[in-house]
Parts: sequence; C-alpha cells; structure tokens
Amino acid sequence: MGQNGEVLKVRNLSTHFYTGAGVAKAVQKVDLTLKRGRTLGLVGESGCGKSVTALSIMRLVPEPPGRIVAGRVELDGRNLLELSEAEMRSVRGSRIAMIFQEPMTSLNPVFTVGSQIVEAVRVHERLSRTAARDRAVEMLSTVRIPNPAQRMRSYPHQLSGGQQQRVMIAMALACGPDVLIADEPTTALDVTIQSQILSLLDDLQARLSMAVLFITHDMAVIAQTADDVAVMYAGTIVERAPVKPLFNKPLHPYTRLLFRSIPTGGARGSRLETIAGQVPSLLALPTGCRFHPRCPLAFERCVKEEPVLREVEDGRLVACHRAGEIEELMK
Ligand SMILES: Nc1ncnc2c1ncn2[C@@H]1O[C@H](COP(=O)(O)OP(=O)(O)O)[C@@H](O)[C@H]1O
Ligand SMILES: [Mg+2]
Repeated sequence: MGQNGEVLKVRNLSTHFYTGAGVAKAVQKVDLTLKRGRTLGLVGESGCGKSVTALSIMRLVPEPPGRIVAGRVELDGRNLLELSEAEMRSVRGSRIAMIFQEPMTSLNPVFTVGSQIVEAVRVHERLSRTAARDRAVEMLSTVRIPNPAQRMRSYPHQLSGGQQQRVMIAMALACGPDVLIADEPTTALDVTIQSQILSLLDDLQARLSMAVLFITHDMAVIAQTADDVAVMYAGTIVERAPVKPLFNKPLHPYTRLLFRSIPTGGARGSRLETIAGQVPSLLALPTGCRFHPRCPLAFERCVKEEPVLREVEDGRLVACHRAGEIEELMK
C-alpha cells in the first residue's frame, strides 16, 4: 500500500471505441485515487464514461471495438495494464471485485447460489470443498441473507431482486478484495431496498476496510455513500473534492447544475430538472472546454482552450477557466 492508504491509482487513463461512425473518446485522461477504507463516488450523466472507466480498471473493455489507448492503473504500485491476461485473471475477484446494476450479469440462472459462491472462492483460493462451503455460508450471513445455510440451495430466480443483489455482493467479497467497484448497484432497486443495500455496503466497507469506487448518476446516492467525489462529463473528470465541501460549494458549473437536477419535493419519480442542451457526442467533441456549449458562464477562452484539472482550493480540483469566479457568477 502506498502513502496515505492509497491502494489504486488511475493515471492519465484514455479508452476509445473505434466504430464505423468514428472514434468515440469515452474516457479521456482520467486520474483517480482510491484509498483504503474510503469510498470515491464517480458521478455524471448517462453515457459520460463511468462504466468504461470501471471496465478499463478491470481490463474488461470489449476489444474491439474498444481499446485502452493510454495511461496506468496501479494496484500497490504495479501497473495492471502491463499484466498478462492470466495474471489479470488472478487479480480480478481476489484483489479487485466488481458488482453491477443487474445482478443476473454475475449470477448464473442454472446453478444454486451456494455453488456459485463456492466456485468464486475456489477459483482463487486452495480451500477444501467444506471450507469453501463454510465461507459461502458465512458470506451469505455477512450480507444479511436470512437462513443462509438453507439459502445456499436456492436458485437465483427464487430470490427477490434485493436478495440477488446481496448474493452478488457476497460473491464479489468472498475472497476479501482490497478494491470494490460498484457500478450503479442500486439503480434498479426501489428506494427502501436501495437504502438497505447502501447501508450494507457501507457496513462491509468499514468492516473489511476496502477501497470502494461507487458509480452512480444520482447525487442523492453520492451524498449517502461517498467520502470523496469525482464528477465526470463527456469522458473527463471536471471536478474532484471531498463530499462535504463539494455539496456545500460546487466549484464547476456542471456540478452546480447537477445539484439542481436532484428531484425536489421528496417523492421519487418526480420530474428531474434537466440541464439545458445536449450531452455532446463523444465522436465529435466541442473545441476547448467540452462543457462550453451548455455552460452559462462560457466565454471566449472556453471555446479555444481546454481547461486542465487544477487545485483551486485546498484539496479541490476543478477543470474550469472560471472556477475562481463562480461564486459571483452563479447564484
Ligand atoms: N461497446 C461499445 N461500443 C461502442 N461505443 C461504446 C461501447 N461501450 C461504450 N461506448 C461509448 O462509451 C461511452 C460511455 O459509455 P459508458 O461508460 O457505458 O457510460 P455511463 O457513464 O453511462 O456508464 C458511450 O456513450 C459510448 O459512446
Ligand atoms: Mg454505466
């Protein structure tokens, strides 16, 4: 482990898709740092490159059409992008695990949940069947599945959506990974179940002191889970900050508009106030700052010059030419 508990460092990561219509720059020069026992929330609108960032870290980008074209992904100082596929397979699951929005992408409908967790353990660890089975039961109990020993014999379809999600989490954590990537794990669930799963993840993270990358498009979920936040727009990180100062005073115009898109009036499903303008096509990005066509503060420089992520206040990074003036300009 590096200084300050840094476990995973993503540096200058770029992943592109080579399609018939052109090159989609889905992830562009992304820098992220995950720390032991902390959750980094990655937030942004649909299509901005969140999942591709996660898949790049796991080296699961479909190739072709995708390709990681630059950067490093360092786990304890080792660049995962240089590992052989066999070495990478042993990293996945044992050191870095991932959970998805749809549990059935991880669960196989034709095997019992017990046998699937046992399999997940035995891929990485030389355990006897009995020991692996004990671990599986223990994991089911850890994710608070009632009657875990009996539940081992259930098939995925016999479980509710929330329970399938818990089983997927049990499987992901069965080998005690140092890093967990959670890609919108609660987006498909209703609010009550969502908040149960979020508090379960919170609990497990504290207990296992994992580093978590939590991906969501929902600022309310970020508020509940993240210690630090990275805001993504059209393939790049536009703002990075600890969660409290970010919520108190967002410094990028896009972050500010994202906050206004949180549904007000309580009830979920109430209309979202959307941000004016279109998300740019990743095939034909605007010149200069890629947010400028939608930005209420854009001026000439924003059209010409791409802003870099720079420290504007203590521990706060913003990629905006007007970050210093935002308080006066945007109320
Ligand atoms: N399999 C693919 N083929 C071509 N382009 C892709 C593919 N997967 C992702 N992309 C491109 O990457 C962009 C980012 O996708 P993604 O990371 O899934 O967004 P999200 O932020 O919603 O998770 C998409 O808008 C699309 O342009
Ligand atoms: Mg996604």
